[in-house]
Amino acid sequence: MHQTIHPKILYFGTPVVLLSTLNEDGSANLAPMSSAWWLGQSCMLGMGMRSKTVENLLRERECVLNLPSADLVGAVDRLALTTGKNPVPGYKQNMTFQYIPDKFSHAGLTTAPSQDVRPPRVVECPVQLEGIVEKFHPFGAPDDFAMAIEVQIVRVHIDESILNTEKRHHIDADKWNPLIMSFCEFYGLGKNLHPSRLARVF
Ligand SMILES: Cc1cc2nc3c(=O)[nH]c(=O)nc-3n(C[C@H](O)[C@H](O)[C@H](O)COP(=O)(O)O)c2cc1C
Repeated sequence: MHQTIHPKILYFGTPVVLLSTLNEDGSANLAPMSSAWWLGQSCMLGMGMRSKTVENLLRERECVLNLPSADLVGAVDRLALTTGKNPVPGYKQNMTFQYIPDKFSHAGLTTAPSQDVRPPRVVECPVQLEGIVEKFHPFGAPDDFAMAIEVQIVRVHIDESILNTEKRHHIDADKWNPLIMSFCEFYGLGKNLHPSRLARVF
């Protein structure tokens, strides 16, 4: 039996991304987010319109999508309720968000230079995707509260520990344990469930 309900959020489980962008003074901002999906070599990101990240992306049009594995959950959670925006927007003040100018040291994470874009990578993340913003799409009823940001991935850095031992340009899905956000709670992945027809052709 199904019931019709009115949930406040519709976060059905997506990978967590630590999105690095450049502030106007050249320092780096780092924001946890999980409204992200990929198709081909492109990615669509959903970020609140009043985030520092959207402000930075509109100006710089470059970012790095750093994907933490499940064991980095502590660092990711330290970044929750923080913003690089000063002053903190009113609605976030009500939710006890704090302005943190250096979110890398706040989280205990380390920067590494990127190759094709100016924002830095997060050393501890096994997956680091350098990206260029292609388009912005104001998004979300009723009043475009968010921005959907179309990013072209231009360089892919993968920690050797999760590479397929034979096919060096493939990630071994058995070795990759992404951090997943589902209804604001953190999860890892369970075990492989069933042989995949799709995996045979990629
Ligand atoms: C695990 C996690 C996932 C999040 N996912 C999103 C998201 O998909 N989109 C979004 O706008 N904010 C998301 N947030 C909240 C942002 O991190 C928050 O708005 C933050 O203040 C943005 O930082 P910035 O203002 O420095 O850009 C998420 C937070 C956490 C901890």
